[in-house]
Amino acid sequence: MERVTQLGYLGISVSDISAWEQFATQTLGLQVAQREADGTLLLRMDEYHHRFLIHPTGKDDAAYFGWEVADEHALKGIAEQLKAAGVEVRKGTSAEAEARRVVDLICFKDPSGIPSEIFYGPLMAYNTPFRSPRQISGFVANQQGLGHMVVTMDDMEQSLRFYRDVLGMRISDFVHVVRPSGEKLYLVFFHCNPRHHTIAFYGAPNPQRRLNHFMLQTQSLDDVGSTFYLCQDQGVPINRGLGRHTNDHMMSFYMRSPSGFEVEYGYGGRVVDDNTWQVQHHTSGSMWGHRPLSR
Ligand SMILES: [Fe+2]
Repeated sequence: MERVTQLGYLGISVSDISAWEQFATQTLGLQVAQREADGTLLLRMDEYHHRFLIHPTGKDDAAYFGWEVADEHALKGIAEQLKAAGVEVRKGTSAEAEARRVVDLICFKDPSGIPSEIFYGPLMAYNTPFRSPRQISGFVANQQGLGHMVVTMDDMEQSLRFYRDVLGMRISDFVHVVRPSGEKLYLVFFHCNPRHHTIAFYGAPNPQRRLNHFMLQTQSLDDVGSTFYLCQDQGVPINRGLGRHTNDHMMSFYMRSPSGFEVEYGYGGRVVDDNTWQVQHHTSGSMWGHRPLSR
C-alpha cells in the first residue's frame, strides 16, 4: 500500500488578501515566497519553496489539500488505490504542476467533496534560507509537513475509512469531549509521519466552513509566548488562551485569522514512532488551559 507522507501544502481561499499578508508575515512570521499575477500569495516556513497558497477568491476556507508522496511510483500506486475505492481521479495538467511547483500531481475530491491533490517532487529553496519577517526561531516542518489541520467532515466513519484505508494514514488517537453546553464532540487524529497528527476531523452535516484551524509549530517556547502578547498588541483576537493538549502534548494558543477560522500556534508537540505507538483515547482535549477568551 502506498501512503501519503506529509501535508505538503495547503490552499486557502480568502476575501481580504492584504489583511492576510499582514497577518501571515507580521503575526505568524511566515515569509512571502512569491506573489503570483492573479494575486495569489505563496508563503514559506521552511526549506520548501512555499507551504501556503493564499488565493484572493473570497471563500474564507480551505480551498484544497496538497498531500505529498515519495516519488512517481508512489503517485501511480496511490492513484490506483483511489480508483479502486471508486474515487474519480484526474491527472494534474502541466500548468497545475507549475503553479504548485511540483513535478507531478493528481487531483480528486475526498468523501466530503474537499478538493485534494497528491504530488511528488516539491520545489526546494535551499539556496535562499527561510527568513521570518519576525524575530522568531522558526518552525518545525520539513519532513513533518507544514503542521496540522482540523477539519469538519460530512460523514465521520466514511472519512475515517478514506484517510486510513485509501490514503494510508494511521490513527493516533480519538478524543471524546462533552462541552459545558452539553454538546458532544468526537474527533479522530491521524498521522502520516512522526508529527503526532497531520489531520484531525469531526463530523457535522453542512458545516459553515471546512477548516476549523491549522497549526504552526515553532522551534522555541519563546516564539509562542512572544506571539501571544504580540496578538494582544496588534489586536489579533485570541480565541483560546495558552494550554497544553492531552494527545500531542502541544503547548499552544489559538488566534483568529482574517478569514474567521483559527490558527493554533504551538511548541513542544510529541512525535509518534510507528514501531511502538498504540492508539489512545482521551475525554479531554487539554491537560490545562486553552480557555476561551475573546470570540
Ligand atoms: Fe490543533
